[in-house]
Amino acid sequence: MENLKDVENSPNYTFVKGDIEDVDFLSALFQSHQFEGIIHLAAESHVDRSITNPLAFIRTNVLGTVNLLDAAVKHWKGNTQRFYHISTDEVFGSIEEPGLFTENTPYDPKSPYSASKASSDHFVRAYHNTYDLPILISNCSNNYGPCQFPEKLVPLCINNIKESSPVPVYGQGLNIRDWLYVEDHAAAIDLIYHKGLVGETYNIGGGSPCKNIDLVRSICRIMDEKLNRPIGQSESLITFVKDRAGHDLRYAIDSKKIIEDLKWQTTTTLEEGLRTTVAWYLENDSWLDHVTSGHYKNYYHLQYNKR
Ligand code: DAU
Repeated sequence: MENLKDVENSPNYTFVKGDIEDVDFLSALFQSHQFEGIIHLAAESHVDRSITNPLAFIRTNVLGTVNLLDAAVKHWKGNTQRFYHISTDEVFGSIEEPGLFTENTPYDPKSPYSASKASSDHFVRAYHNTYDLPILISNCSNNYGPCQFPEKLVPLCINNIKESSPVPVYGQGLNIRDWLYVEDHAAAIDLIYHKGLVGETYNIGGGSPCKNIDLVRSICRIMDEKLNRPIGQSESLITFVKDRAGHDLRYAIDSKKIIEDLKWQTTTTLEEGLRTTVAWYLENDSWLDHVTSGHYKNYYHLQYNKR
């Protein structure tokens, strides 16, 4: 709820807590609200969690998405509302240099998480084909920015460096990810929802490919600077740990379609985005303290203590 504070007094905002696995809840929700469309971001999103508990990913990402699709088909009349599914570049699997994922790259998911997102993408397209539901899909690269839960690499590093705890880098840190600043992603979602062509898929990449170890070193450098620590102090916390099972080596996105067709572009470089992100976490340490208490401690212990 803390992440929604900025909008909580907006007249066009309503918060309803519910679970997309709950068909009755969805049915009541569709009856009480005349939705003009859906932007579907509800998902189990963390690959490491999918390795320890794949069923949770099938329930939320696959069944939950099908429940939402069913509700839209049942309650929407005239097929004018748009159902927009937010997905991931991980559905394409790993790609060797210098290849890029395009919207036509065959799906080849490799983790339980990406398999569940690939499956949900297929269901969304199937509902377009079978029931004429007006759908849109986008597949994005790695998001980072303020308010991100510190299970993900960037806020996890910031939190650990702040606490002077070891910074875990999986394997040798040679995996490559493309980094997309959250506000650039939000702008792309807004464009696709309003201007995208029904039935189409759009890839959204940050245009900032980076090896994990280089990204982590950049975060260490910025943290040293912001915390007035001697250069190199944070880097000494880097600890290479056991690799993630089935770890995809490289993701790389071609965003040509959304750039050319919808005139989208990124506005934040990786260096600027990381600086803004680090500054946000340091200014909002009560937010960080809050989300890293309780369940997070158990999660962290389970994921990292035996690595
Ligand atoms: O590519 C888009 C995807 O990006 C999204 O679909 C996922 O929902 C999102 O979680 C993210 O997946 P990743 O697995 O790439 O993100 P994560 O932050 O977990 O890890 C980024 C890279 O850093 C990855 O190669 C694994 C590595 N890593 C991660 C953690 C948490 C580490 O080396 N150490 C860590 O402690």
